[in-house]
Amino acid sequence: MSSPAPRHSRRQALAIGALGVAAGSAALLPAATQTATAGSNPQAQEFADKTVLITGATSGIGEATARAMAAAGARVFFCGRRVQLGRKVEASIRSTGGEATYRRADVRNESEVRELVNACVKRYGRLDVAVNNAGIESPRAARLHEQSMADMESVWRTNAGGVFLGMKYELPQMLKQGGGVIVNTASISSEVGFATIAPYNSSKHAVASLTKVAALEYAADNIRVNAFAPGAVDTPMLRRAAEAFGVTYEQIAQDYPIKRIVRPEEMATVVMWLSSDRSSAVTGTDVDASGGYLTG
Ligand SMILES: NC(=O)c1ccc[n+]([C@@H]2O[C@H](COP(=O)([O-])OP(=O)(O)OC[C@H]3O[C@@H](n4cnc5c(N)ncnc54)[C@H](OP(=O)(O)O)[C@@H]3O)[C@@H](O)[C@H]2O)c1
Repeated sequence: MSSPAPRHSRRQALAIGALGVAAGSAALLPAATQTATAGSNPQAQEFADKTVLITGATSGIGEATARAMAAAGARVFFCGRRVQLGRKVEASIRSTGGEATYRRADVRNESEVRELVNACVKRYGRLDVAVNNAGIESPRAARLHEQSMADMESVWRTNAGGVFLGMKYELPQMLKQGGGVIVNTASISSEVGFATIAPYNSSKHAVASLTKVAALEYAADNIRVNAFAPGAVDTPMLRRAAEAFGVTYEQIAQDYPIKRIVRPEEMATVVMWLSSDRSSAVTGTDVDASGGYLTG
């Protein structure tokens, strides 16, 4: 008798992971990992006097990065569309002694992105690090011939267009200053194909492409441009995707060599390494931050 067919192919399940899963997922983490990631920061104050701009920091990976950067001494300027949440994150960071400013901006809107960068420079005087992180998942699972142009354009506009517009207005400021660092949030979906999520998968391939193009164009200007590729990170996006695909965190975790869903704070440390002088020889890469999925 043959065994029942799995409900999801490996790459479908991973696609879900590439988008995110979460609440209560701390239970999935080995105790040692929880201790290590919640513990002291050996690079404390590494970003003192640095200005860091982050798109999409009202929740998830962006929020964790904003908190970690502020804890390391950075002046953090960040956006997202949900004003109440943005103000809450800003107040929360300030209540712990960090420096952060929220400004509402939609990364699909060119003038809002331009004004976001201008306001950051006006507020803090410069721009040292830019993290282009804002992103959305595919609205629904469907094969290509069932995808709509509206869904393709919507996801491209946010995920790829947002990264393009971010860099378009961040780079001139960095050129003026004589250098800077850009980190773009890609995905394992930027490196391999996943069935049923054409809008997201193609948008993230574009993020990897834009990262490489910019890295080559500005390497001689002392500007490094890298991306990182999360797999399954415990954020609101992953929770939404897991629910939409009808899979559990446990099922998603099985698709990754490390067999667990990672925490947003673990992505923040990758961003911080790519943003710091510790990665001074690194540009044009898409760092696998998935727990080994892209290893093969
Ligand atoms: N979680 C994962 O497993 C996973 C895996 C691979 C890659 N990623 C990538 O990681 C990034 C962050 O996602 P997340 O998992 O942290 O999910 P999330 O909690 O949903 O965060 C997404 C962030 O992007 C912002 N955003 C979305 N559309 C925007 C727009 N048009 N303008 C401005 N901000 C916008 C959201 O803020 P507002 O809603 O307030 O606008 C929010 O702050 C995304 O690029 C995602 O593709 C996540």
